[in-house]
Amino acid sequence: MGLSYYACRGQWPEGVPPDYPETEEEALTRLDELYTSGVPFFSKASIRSALEQIQRPLVEGDKVLIKALDGSMVEYTMRTGVVSKGFPPLLDGPPDDDKPRMTESLVVKEATINYECRAGMRHSIFRAGFKRHVPLFCPISIYFLCDVRREDGQIVNVTERISREKAHSEFNEYLQIWKGKDRFKKMKQILDSTTASLDITKIVAVSLGCLTYAYGSRGSQQKQHGMIIALRDWLKEKNKSTHVPCFVQDPVYEDDDKAILAEHEVEVIDDPLAWLEMDDQSIVVSIASNVPSKEIIADVSRPAVVIWYRVTDKDYDQKGRGGLTDPCSARVRKMMEWYDCHDFGAGECLGSEEILMYVRRPKTLCRDEGEKSE
Ligand SMILES: C[S@@+](CC[C@H](N)C(=O)[O-])C[C@H]1O[C@@H](n2cnc3c(N)ncnc32)[C@H](O)[C@@H]1O
Repeated sequence: MGLSYYACRGQWPEGVPPDYPETEEEALTRLDELYTSGVPFFSKASIRSALEQIQRPLVEGDKVLIKALDGSMVEYTMRTGVVSKGFPPLLDGPPDDDKPRMTESLVVKEATINYECRAGMRHSIFRAGFKRHVPLFCPISIYFLCDVRREDGQIVNVTERISREKAHSEFNEYLQIWKGKDRFKKMKQILDSTTASLDITKIVAVSLGCLTYAYGSRGSQQKQHGMIIALRDWLKEKNKSTHVPCFVQDPVYEDDDKAILAEHEVEVIDDPLAWLEMDDQSIVVSIASNVPSKEIIADVSRPAVVIWYRVTDKDYDQKGRGGLTDPCSARVRKMMEWYDCHDFGAGECLGSEEILMYVRRPKTLCRDEGEKSE
């Protein structure tokens, strides 16, 4: 598979809005004000609107319109089918440096949604500087999925895979060993004792990677998929049901992953459907995401149970401190006031004791905020 991502540059159809910040400092201040004012960076409605637009049969020149945080409408122009010779590509005009360019070409295939949280936007400013003509306050924007093509016409393979047979037998072996040892016994005990009053109907997992990567990380990714199967089986028992929906979303799944997971009644769904599926009756799992999952989830839902990396007071939003794709934030910590935290033994089960289970308290114990839904 040769897909890579390339940012589609957004612009205002009517030019820079009159009240747009003049300087980097003003831009950072405005961003923080928008964040602390509680304006949702992500909502199901805005995600759905972007999805509906990119699902149309788009051709070069078509426009996708997305409302930015400051209320301005930002326009993204489709470049579907465009081949940009030389790499990095020159989709947005001449290069702004004189670095030698590689001979590969970029072939634009389709549009996809990009997510940027407050810390991510701050880092874009630190990295690229404030450019007044480039819309900044866009937590949802458009990227292109592209093939990188060599001069001989071959598509560059960016993710090497193992065969379906090998992945299948490896994964089944994992599941068998785990079943015997009941690796997730502690997780199930905690769920039994904490979720009696919670109505839970489905599992939604994002960013677990896949089963077929040829890299070393495959082992931990297979374990994480094993965990959601254990969660699903636990939920079947709890609900005395023969079917419990169990969805996974990660752009790296290929047909072989989908087929293996389907055998275990796990359904691969395309971005952004997982965010739209999440609700207060879900168990949500997100591990080391490359998108700001914590921020998206905190804005769009209050799942019954969340399994993710420990929520800390580090926001990774300071210059020179390095960014993190899925940082914590004030909103995530606020959400966690609704939850009790449990160490379910992920150190042994998944290889990191920093992965924790957060179970939502009964509503009467929650402090404020309405249910999240749209
Ligand atoms: C650092 S990897 C972590 C993978 C796995 N959880 C692990 O611990 O090895 C981040 C994952 O986020 C995924 N990701 C990127 N965009 C995503 C999206 N829009 N929705 C869900 N997952 C996404 C990547 O494809 C990748 O598999």
